[in-house]
Amino acid sequence: MADNILDRFKTDTEEHVVDASKKVKVGIIGTGWIAEAHAACYKRCPDVEIVALADIVPGKAEKFAKDNGIEGARIYNSDRELIDNEKDIDAVSVCTYNRQHAPCTIYALENGVNVLLEKPMCVTTEEAVAICRAEKASGKVLSIGFQPRFDENMKMVKKVVESGELGQIYYIQTGGGRRKGIPTPYGTSFIEDETAGIGALADIGCYSLDMVLNAVGYPKPLTVSGYMSDFFGKNPATYPAHPEYAEKFSVDDFGAGFIRLEGGIILDFRIAWDMHLDTPGDTIIMGTKGSLRIPSTECWNGSIGGPLKIYHDVAGEKVETVIPEKENDVDNFDKKIRSFIDAVKYGLPAPVPSSQIIYNQAIIDGIVRSAREGKEVTVEIPEI
Ligand SMILES: NC(=O)c1ccc[n+]([C@@H]2O[C@H](COP(=O)([O-])OP(=O)(O)OC[C@H]3O[C@@H](n4cnc5c(N)ncnc54)[C@H](O)[C@@H]3O)[C@@H](O)[C@H]2O)c1
Repeated sequence: MADNILDRFKTDTEEHVVDASKKVKVGIIGTGWIAEAHAACYKRCPDVEIVALADIVPGKAEKFAKDNGIEGARIYNSDRELIDNEKDIDAVSVCTYNRQHAPCTIYALENGVNVLLEKPMCVTTEEAVAICRAEKASGKVLSIGFQPRFDENMKMVKKVVESGELGQIYYIQTGGGRRKGIPTPYGTSFIEDETAGIGALADIGCYSLDMVLNAVGYPKPLTVSGYMSDFFGKNPATYPAHPEYAEKFSVDDFGAGFIRLEGGIILDFRIAWDMHLDTPGDTIIMGTKGSLRIPSTECWNGSIGGPLKIYHDVAGEKVETVIPEKENDVDNFDKKIRSFIDAVKYGLPAPVPSSQIIYNQAIIDGIVRSAREGKEVTVEIPEI
């Protein structure tokens, strides 16, 4: 019985032949931590040339070029300088901290450059709307950097929902987080309002939201009741080597939201960078015919914490169908970069479109607004 059910979720194998006769010229804006992953993946694409790097910290892009073996790239002191000077560049990766996502992306699109924008999309719904409008006016490709989208287990979550095996979805619980994990490996860009804008909610919360929203077809959020706190971030004991970070901490380390989605689905969400708990719960998707459990991971980053399990009735019996974990043949980050380059080269739709991720951003923004106002808020997204 279980085998027959599993047959319905088989994955197609993907084959890819790269035409390297014409190089796609790319630049990287913001040469910090995640830019290294972008550079490594671009270097593995035979049809990509990294022609330019920009960072506002003097010397940082030069050092990055050296450390990552891309000495041939031209170096700039800001995103604008790069875009203004690189007249025939095809695409940029925007790898800046969150507060600089919108200005850098909009400027690149306005100048006819395709953009791979790191997650979270930005900080506010207004910024997300401005990004989407710039994208629409430009006719260029904008993809948002959610590499878990390419994970075989994540694809399986979507396939299970789309198969109809769960029936009509009416309730989703998602989120997760870390017991100790406020990200300060290279300083304070994740924990200060002027660089990050939002904390755990956006940094790792956006992944949990994307997993379930993508699975159920990204319904529009209607209302949000939200909560945020910063008990751990504000505690000097959290940073034994840098107690002064507690003073600088000006975002959330925990956030929760109760969201009503179009189509009558309730989304119950919570995420933590730090907490006295291993996990605040697995992800569950409840439907009228069956429910799906996705075991939580400590650091919610798009991998699953164990095999997926479907709970349903078969011939009047309570049955649990375990879906074995799948291996990824190619790294998800490589797939994120490859799919973006293919979209640029062949005029394909954005692999992770802004038209979906604007709802992800609107939920995060709704939680922030609701937590500040102390009441439920409505989500309004103007026409793009
Ligand atoms: N997809 C993933 O797995 C993943 C992992 C880590 C981080 N991220 C995201 O990537 C982004 C960057 O994270 P990070 O850890 O690399 O941060 P970081 O602070 O290490 O690097 C950001 C860099 O951007 C530079 N910068 C800021 N504004 C700029 C501008 N206008 N022009 C040029 N450079 C500018 C900063 O000087 C800094 O060097 C964040 O939004 C984060 O959420 C994604």
